[in-house]
This record gives sequence, C-alpha cells and structure tokens, in this order.
Amino acid sequence: MNKAINLYLTILRDKKTKCLQFRHAATIVADLLAHQTLLQLNTKTVTIDTPLAKTSGIQRINDIVLIPILRSGITMLPAFLCYFPDAPIGVVGLKREEKTAEAHLYYHNFPPLTPEHQIIILDPMLATGGTAVETIALLKKYGIQENKIIFVSIVSAPEGINKIRTAFPTVTIITAAEDERLNAKKFIVPGLGDFGDRYFGTEE
Ligand code: URA
Repeated sequence: MNKAINLYLTILRDKKTKCLQFRHAATIVADLLAHQTLLQLNTKTVTIDTPLAKTSGIQRINDIVLIPILRSGITMLPAFLCYFPDAPIGVVGLKREEKTAEAHLYYHNFPPLTPEHQIIILDPMLATGGTAVETIALLKKYGIQENKIIFVSIVSAPEGINKIRTAFPTVTIITAAEDERLNAKKFIVPGLGDFGDRYFGTEE
C-alpha cells in the first residue's frame, strides 16, 4: 500500500475520527484510487498540434461510465469526476438483507451502454461481494464485457475479492486495503465500521 493511502486510511479506520475528518480522508483516498484507476485504462498514441509544433501524446480509447452503488458509492463520485468529468453516471441500488447479508436489487438507472464502454464501479466497502457480483451480472445483461469492468473499493475482505474473481475472473479490482476477514455480521475486520453511517453522519 502506498504511504499516501495508508496515512488517510488510518484516519478512516480510527474510531475517534469524526464525520468531517472522515469525509475529508475518504475523498482523498478516493482521489488516490481514481489516479490508480486512470493508470489501468487502455490508451493509444496520438499526434497533436501544440500552438508551436506537432508532438505525440496519449488518449483514452474507451468512453467511461461511472457506476456508484448506493448509497456509499456516491461518496467516491466527486474524486472520480475530477479525473473523468465527462463520464455519464449510472446508479445501482442494492439492499443487503440484515439476516442473510444477501444483496437485492431495488433500483438501477443506466445511461445508454455499448460493449465499447469502460465501466468503473464504485463501492467503498467490498465485504461479501454479493452487491458487486449482482452489479457486474446486471451490466453483463446490458452487453458490457467483463474485461471492461473495473471495481474500485477502499477496504475489501478476502471473501469479497474471491467472490468477484471466481464469478468474473477478468474484472479488475482496485482497492486501497485487503483486510483480514468478515465477522459474523459480515462487517470487515479490522475495517472501519459502517462506512455509510460514518460518512453521511447517520450513526446512532
Ligand atoms: N459495509 C460497511 O460499511 N462496512 C463493512 O465493514 C462492511 C460493509
């Protein structure tokens, strides 16, 4: 893990961190992950004209679509929109059932999608992988190619990573931290607690 991510992840993990600092640290980690995501994208060499001369550079090949998973995924949007300001945004709403921890799709709204699109799914906590796998399966029904999907999370459990890798081996996973395990309530350990509650200020 790089030092910049580690510094801000430590703030996120600390239970003493209040909502304002949590939001700030989450935005910085999301920014660092957006930078890592950028490095994964397919590019081509192009020739362009500066005001003075011709020179070569690179351009992205595929148009990007950002897909935050509600609700915590939307917290990563501002950072990703800095890097991909023209990207259409699709939204997926999946609710985790308390008892079974199974994910149920209750809402989705996608922009027009083509197989050429590069999809970036945003969800800060990759726990069981249930919501991730449901989202990827849904995107495949829309004709998206598995190898054009990047899943970005801040903290991941090995269970979630394995679930994606088993179901969709060519999906790229970018995460700031791979933690030890899930506990009986399917929370990531050591983790950072409930990301949504801490970011949105809805903690009891
Ligand atoms: N979602 C969270 O917010 N935290 C976890 O540990 C797991 C899922």
